[in-house]
Amino acid sequence: MTIELAVIGGTGVYALGELAGVETHQPVTPYGAPSGPVRVGLYAGRRVAFLARHGEGHSLPPHRINYRANLAALKALGAQRVLALNTVGGITEAYGPRVLACPDQLIDYTWGRISTFCEEPGSEVLHVDFGDPYTPALRQQVLAAAARAGVAVVDGGCYGATQGPRLETRAEIARMRRDGCDLVGMTGMPEAGLARELGLDYACLAIVANWAAGAGPDVDEVITLQDVLDNVAAAMAGVPPLLRSL
Ligand code: HPA
Repeated sequence: MTIELAVIGGTGVYALGELAGVETHQPVTPYGAPSGPVRVGLYAGRRVAFLARHGEGHSLPPHRINYRANLAALKALGAQRVLALNTVGGITEAYGPRVLACPDQLIDYTWGRISTFCEEPGSEVLHVDFGDPYTPALRQQVLAAAARAGVAVVDGGCYGATQGPRLETRAEIARMRRDGCDLVGMTGMPEAGLARELGLDYACLAIVANWAAGAGPDVDEVITLQDVLDNVAAAMAGVPPLLRSL
């Protein structure tokens, strides 16, 4: 049976509460094991898969995630559409804490991560088109689902993917703002690029947890994990209605 949607959960999102009749898969891919089990069940009557990107106990830092195994596992289970939930910091005005956004662009500042399926000797060399890093049709479906459900989602924005796991300096965020980034997170890449190499439809629903360093009204604000988790929990209220509608 096909999977109509795969959801990858980020920081603060370790399960889909409404998933019914859950089957647990522990796939092993040619790239190794994914971050944890893939839970497949019915969500609003449709078959949905869920994978916690950092592991269900949040044991994997962003640079240690096996992004290739995660996406290969979802594809092998029959998923074609992937919605990535990414906890992020907000840089520009429209992207304050607790906002949900569906970005349409990204800039990759990560380094040293295996970022392609062309790594192994003998694998086909792919130069996939990545002008629109998120699948436009899936973005439109996400935005339409949000509108139907009455959930506010900012349409568009540029996601800057940083290496982490530390947060950024104020100068780094100022530079990212100059580059045109609206959001900053640590896991958007190589995930989006790998999804494109696999031919998966992929969109990001970004959950703004905090103002990025120096970006908010209080430039000296210190970002605490508790603020991040509180804001994610608050913003997550909109996610189940959006997913049901999607
Ligand atoms: N920077 C990078 N990643 C993040 C942030 C941030 O400020 N907040 C949540 N994820």
